Amino acid sequence: EIVILPDAAAVGAAAAARIAAVVRAKPEAVLGLSTGSSPLGTYEALGELVRRGEVDLSRAAGFALDEYVGLPPESPQSYAATIDTTVTRPLGMDPARVRTPPGSAADLEAACEEYEQAIRGAGGVDVQLLGIGANGHIGFNEPTSSFASRTRIKTLAPRTREDNARFFDGDLDAVPLHCITQGLGTILDARRLLLVAQGEAKADAVARTVEGPLSAMVPGSALQLHPHATVLLDEAAASRLT
Ligand code: F6R
Repeated sequence: EIVILPDAAAVGAAAAARIAAVVRAKPEAVLGLSTGSSPLGTYEALGELVRRGEVDLSRAAGFALDEYVGLPPESPQSYAATIDTTVTRPLGMDPARVRTPPGSAADLEAACEEYEQAIRGAGGVDVQLLGIGANGHIGFNEPTSSFASRTRIKTLAPRTREDNARFFDGDLDAVPLHCITQGLGTILDARRLLLVAQGEAKADAVARTVEGPLSAMVPGSALQLHPHATVLLDEAAASRLT
């Protein structure tokens, strides 16, 4: 399902409404959480619904998509800290039920397997919120990622490190080289996928994700395999769809 909305605010409101509907039907729903700029409007709109008493996320669980390797969780750029300040606290979620891949674990491979088990143990993800990178990545599954991949350690693409340097005061050298990310296979296991994209810079990745052939060079194109994937776009992000 592709939905084209007038602006970024409408994208956030539509995504929040869909997530709220899942949680109203199942208060202990498992939410797949994304970081970066794209979902911020969704979290703001969801926070508004929480404040108005229209949805209660206190029993919901959350699993973040990805984390940098080597940043301690207390570092403000870590996704653990970002999820805590932009999702868990403002949305009234229970911090004990919200997890981020442990990028500082001593044994990263074991930590990846444990993360997969934790998602399975929670009953799987009910709705996974996604952004998309300008190179078509979802999570940190960079081009060439296998559609069957599971949670694992990945090297960040140079383009992704450049794009994310803005979160590190523009200092490219401060951006970690590696990450842990849920795999495309892990993401496809979620019961629903909700991808949000805003702005012209995403238009090409969106067109290749939605209309291009399935390709490991466009990890987002894996969404075409999912029976309940919704793509919410503003007009600029939709501008290269045919
Ligand atoms: C973040 C993530 C990434 C971002 C993507 C877009 O958890 O998994 O795939 O969604 O890099 O980032 P923004 O939204 O900052 O343009």
